[in-house]
Amino acid sequence: MTQDEMKQKVAEAALDYVREGTIVGVGTGSTANKFIDALAARKDEIVGAVASSEATAKRLRGHGITVLDLNEALTRVNSLSVYIDGADEFDPNKNLTKGGGGALTREKIVAAASDVFVCIVDETKRVATLGAFPLPIEVIPMARALVMNVARKLGGRPELRQGFTTDNGNVIIDVHGLRIDDPLALEDELNSVPGVVTNGIFAHQRADVVLMGTPDGVQVIE
Ligand code: A5P
Repeated sequence: MTQDEMKQKVAEAALDYVREGTIVGVGTGSTANKFIDALAARKDEIVGAVASSEATAKRLRGHGITVLDLNEALTRVNSLSVYIDGADEFDPNKNLTKGGGGALTREKIVAAASDVFVCIVDETKRVATLGAFPLPIEVIPMARALVMNVARKLGGRPELRQGFTTDNGNVIIDVHGLRIDDPLALEDELNSVPGVVTNGIFAHQRADVVLMGTPDGVQVIE
């Protein structure tokens, strides 16, 4: 089975977590795109979806799925029933690195607004310790050099993502070479630097369930 086929399988498996009559949070990336395509068949059963990026909103609308602004959604319900999204890495505690597509801040917001986070990945994303994938940090442009200095002090090699602006009008710094032994602590430390909007460690917003695609089928990690 190819990586693409494994992504397809987990995207379809995630439909089991979509409850009728609810608002669903939807992530960003190639695996989330497959989920959106699968969700199209169930669009009349849900109230609508909250998107974690402009790209996701566009794809949802393309399928005729109602897209709700998060603030509007939270005037109707206390929380979204589920958030479904991919990841760049996950560890045995279901901590994640996200943001390869640059949508980490909105992804973290929608995850925080949801009752359950179902992470859909293929087995290539599994790691013992986060950090092999460069850690994305969304930064207000004025603070770019400051945040890069902090990343260097932490032992990382920061690189500005070239030619990229987030949906929020900010830049992304990708930090290479960090070994993330304590995801919660590093998430907090980086987020405390002025100018950091958020970083791609999802430890506070770790997954509740990981659906991992393997050549033998989908493994459910709870
Ligand atoms: C988007 O910003 C990311 O957090 C994605 O969720 C992550 O990069 C996974 O993307 P793929 O499903 O394309 O691997």
